[in-house]
Amino acid sequence: MSDLNIYVLGAGIVGLTTALELKRDLRNASITVIADDFYENTTSYVAAGIFRPTSGDFGKSEEITRKWIIDSFSYWELLRLSSESSEAGVKEISGYIFSSEHPHIVRNKYLEKLVPVYRKATEEEMGLCLGDWKYGSYFSTILTDTAKYLKWAEKKIHMSNVPIRHEKIRAFSEISGECDVIVNCTGLGSKFLCNDSSLTAIRGQVSKVEAPWIKHFFYGDYDTYIIPGFDNVTLGGCRQYESYDKKFSQYDYLSMRERCEKMLPSLRDAKLIGHRVGLRPHRIPVRVEMEEKIANGRKLKIVHNYGHGGYGVTTCPGTSINAVQLVRRALTEKSKL
Ligand SMILES: Cc1cc2nc3c(=O)[nH]c(=O)nc-3n(C[C@H](O)[C@H](O)[C@H](O)COP(=O)(O)OP(=O)(O)OC[C@H]3O[C@@H](n4cnc5c(N)ncnc54)[C@H](O)[C@@H]3O)c2cc1C
Ligand SMILES: *[C@@H]1O[C@H](CO)[C@@H](O)[C@H](O)[C@H]1NC(C)=O
Ligand SMILES: *[C@@H]1O[C@H](CO)[C@@H](O)[C@H](O)[C@H]1NC(C)=O
Ligand SMILES: *[C@@H]1O[C@H](CO)[C@@H](O)[C@H](O)[C@H]1NC(C)=O
Ligand SMILES: *[C@@H]1O[C@H](CO)[C@@H](O)[C@H](O)[C@H]1NC(C)=O
Ligand SMILES: *[C@@H]1O[C@H](CO)[C@@H](O)[C@H](O)[C@H]1NC(C)=O
Repeated sequence: MSDLNIYVLGAGIVGLTTALELKRDLRNASITVIADDFYENTTSYVAAGIFRPTSGDFGKSEEITRKWIIDSFSYWELLRLSSESSEAGVKEISGYIFSSEHPHIVRNKYLEKLVPVYRKATEEEMGLCLGDWKYGSYFSTILTDTAKYLKWAEKKIHMSNVPIRHEKIRAFSEISGECDVIVNCTGLGSKFLCNDSSLTAIRGQVSKVEAPWIKHFFYGDYDTYIIPGFDNVTLGGCRQYESYDKKFSQYDYLSMRERCEKMLPSLRDAKLIGHRVGLRPHRIPVRVEMEEKIANGRKLKIVHNYGHGGYGVTTCPGTSINAVQLVRRALTEKSKL
């Protein structure tokens, strides 16, 4: 199997997780990761990192969506229970979601069946945050500090002798050398090069503050959230459709800071540490499928794994496991396995 050459494009959370899963499943294949942005320059670095899928379906069907979510949760749970959890930046977290708008906001058909605790907030808990709340839930889930995870994953990839190349790919025929399958984990990256008009940016901005007294996460209405991480607390947020501006916005900062302080006045004393801006690669459904293309007279097999929107941390292990199955199938067709 050592004559199999697989290229993974992208070194965000999706690309790195896919490379690790490929290496685990196809031990002898020769795998190469290619990307032009790494670590703090990826969208993945910006994520708050909480495991919380939308209640809607972002796979082609409810069945596929559910499978991705279950596989993802098992992956994060296994990592959380391993001796590598703190280096990989994975831990358990619990907290509250409140709404004054609609009961469906505080429910989640997928999480409710998956996590150890998901229940209605008590009368007393409804008073933990200032606000005219009508609905509230308490649940526990998993938090991934993506800065730690990206570092950990890169290290694992190096340790398994998978090279990581720093290169911008403009056309797939550019990839030099023997190539059996390309796995496309480029997120929003190629929107402007290739034409996938169903891919849209949803701009997000968060701030990091020092507030070690915050032990739980809190979600309010209008994309307001307070999420304690390993070191600092993430304050958010915003969701701006079709905005491609990666610059920090003071206006957004003041708005989210005000919304967060309204919920938890103690945050007024929290020292500001920094800001992060990212463009969520939004696509419904998330694209996990095989495609054959002809480039320079060569037939190329491409397995796509992109378009995770605001849920890439939550769902990337599941979609990556799915992508690895498609790679296997593509290779079997070539009757090399
Ligand atoms: C403010 C904010 C908060 C978020 N919070 C959460 C959360 O709490 N939970 C959650 O699950 N998700 C969250 N997300 C979503 C999550 O960050 C994304 O879904 C995820 O990071 C997407 O990962 P990715 O690997 O597809 O993309 P990226 O991290 O953007 O990586 C793309 C990679 O592809 C490479 N690439 C692209 N084009 C090319 C090219 N032509 N040639 C070479 N390389 C290329 C890039 O260089 C990069 O390495 C949040 C996002 C934002 C912005
Ligand atoms: C990988 O290669 C080694 C040595 O060539 C061989 O012994 C082993 O069976 C191979 N493993 C798989 C999964 O093909
Ligand atoms: C991120 O981008 C900046 C500016 O281009 C660059 O200096 C830095 O080295 C990049 N970081 C990584 C980890 O590649
Ligand atoms: C890879 O994914 C991008 C979206 O990130 C898409 O625009 C592009 O067409 C894909 N590349 C190929 C070769 O299919
Ligand atoms: C993308 O679409 C534009 C206009 O719709 C076209 O000019 C361009 O050639 C297309 N690019 C690719 C790679 O298909
Ligand atoms: C968290 O805050 C400390 C200072 O309190 C800082 O050194 C560190 O870089 C911050 N970490 C992150 C992930 O922002």
